[in-house]
Amino acid sequence: MRETDFSERVLDWFDQHGRKNLPWQQEITPYRVWVSEIMLQQTQVATVLDYYQRFMATLPDLKALAEAPEDEVLHLWTGLGYYSRARNLHKTAHILMQQYEGNFPASVEQLEALPGIGRSTAGAIASIALGMRAPILDGNVKRVLSRHWAVEGYPGESAVARQLWDLAERLTPTERVNHYTQAMMDLGATLCTRTKPSCLLCPVVASCKAHILGREQDFPTPKPR
Ligand code: ADE
Repeated sequence: MRETDFSERVLDWFDQHGRKNLPWQQEITPYRVWVSEIMLQQTQVATVLDYYQRFMATLPDLKALAEAPEDEVLHLWTGLGYYSRARNLHKTAHILMQQYEGNFPASVEQLEALPGIGRSTAGAIASIALGMRAPILDGNVKRVLSRHWAVEGYPGESAVARQLWDLAERLTPTERVNHYTQAMMDLGATLCTRTKPSCLLCPVVASCKAHILGREQDFPTPKPR
């Protein structure tokens, strides 16, 4: 199938079934999207909701975050775990205030150079907040792509990761990239789940190699041991 067929089906599905009322989808700014993406790196949406609202009520913008004592930032994070995320958030706020005049850089490479922001998070911020055509490849998207194209091999291996990034890059559309990014995350989180995926509801099931082979459970390939 053509790349545009894939993204069109995913976008149509998003229009009908995607999540559109999450707090970080309202009044979208790079700051709000960045904080949400960092919280969502290791924590589920349902848990993040309360923390996110409290964080934004207390530290509504980059300046407020940069000026807050680290204790306060960590206190707002208490219960979310992986506290290096909060410390990196604080560090990055200082860097942006000091080196970027309080703005987010508008390139994936520069975003990726900031503490706590990996390639996928950089892609999410660039696509959702800045409308740039940048791919993402988080755990959910790895599952969707490795199943759809029956990509063999553990994604922790660089050759496999390269293949998945290459697919992610080619499939990312030029229009509505913000919705496409959100749609791929939603697809992985709600339908293309690790166990018992809801293939009958999937907008791209007809071309899913894993489904055609009846091998959904074989992808992504687990870590070799
Ligand atoms: N996980 C990571 N980023 C997300 C987002 N923007 N929406 C829902 N789940 C996510």
